[in-house]
Amino acid sequence: MNSDDFEALSVWLKESRDSALSDEIFRIGAVTGWRRWPSGEFGPSNFERGLLLHRLVKLTGAKDVLELGTGRGFSSICMGMASETYQLNTQITTIDPIGPGKNQEWPMRVDSKDTVDSSNREKMWANHVPKKFTQNIHQITSTSFLELRKLLRSDRHFDIIFIDAGHDAFSVTHDVAYAILLLRQGGILVLDDFSPTEWYGLGAVMVLPHVRRFFSDVRVLRTDGVIYPSTASGRQESGMLVATGLGDHDFKFMRMRLVWWRLLWLAVNFSYTRSWLFPLSKKS
Ligand SMILES: C[S@@+](CC[C@H](N)C(=O)[O-])C[C@H]1O[C@@H](n2cnc3c(N)ncnc32)[C@H](O)[C@@H]1O
Repeated sequence: MNSDDFEALSVWLKESRDSALSDEIFRIGAVTGWRRWPSGEFGPSNFERGLLLHRLVKLTGAKDVLELGTGRGFSSICMGMASETYQLNTQITTIDPIGPGKNQEWPMRVDSKDTVDSSNREKMWANHVPKKFTQNIHQITSTSFLELRKLLRSDRHFDIIFIDAGHDAFSVTHDVAYAILLLRQGGILVLDDFSPTEWYGLGAVMVLPHVRRFFSDVRVLRTDGVIYPSTASGRQESGMLVATGLGDHDFKFMRMRLVWWRLLWLAVNFSYTRSWLFPLSKKS
């Protein structure tokens, strides 16, 4: 992918409103990515990521994709859909500590009705998603902390790596460092939830300058709310980071440096939540 493809990507995203594809992705999202916000309202959460990942699989003809953080499966299914539609035989490996058969809170919209159930991917995918979209999804029940090391040892490489697991700065830095080692030359790194105004978006924001050192083309695309309604949930704008043009593959990996990021995140987390640490307070 080159710079023109990137420009075309954000234009394409905006123009995808009201297309058959955006409708199909909304239908999948309503049963695998629907959210109930703290306000009690229901709605989509950046379903645009499904469109974007679908597009990236199509444009690159990706054969191997790695997703960190399966969640309820929305993004994997969208990539599986692209693979099936364009006959790419893309193999999607996805990692999450919550296994396919483990129940989790499951908000969804079916027949225009919002409900919250306790359910699992195994059951929901079987009941609501065409098998042809999920047949090439390989689910690993584990964490990125354990699995990325194993993948590195196995010498596997990926065309697209989508990072959407732990959102704190330590987890994102860890996942990005391994992902760079696991990407094929010419591969694409994608991060969800790039948002300087949201707590969960700080990890992706903090790692941005480091991503820029390794990739020649790094873009933050505005996604959430571009196509699908961003509900009045109090959510702020959030986007996705897409990086291409990975240079030299001769890396030296200094795992111990992750300790710094762990400490840094503990300090940020602590400072963020303690009002007494801020050098100003209101007189009572
Ligand atoms: C936002 S959801 C993922 C959504 C999914 N990527 C999608 O687009 O449909 C985040 C998921 O990451 C998982 N997770 C958290 N930390 C993780 C880690 N270190 N490794 C793998 N998964 C993790 C959580 O269990 C949760 O299911």
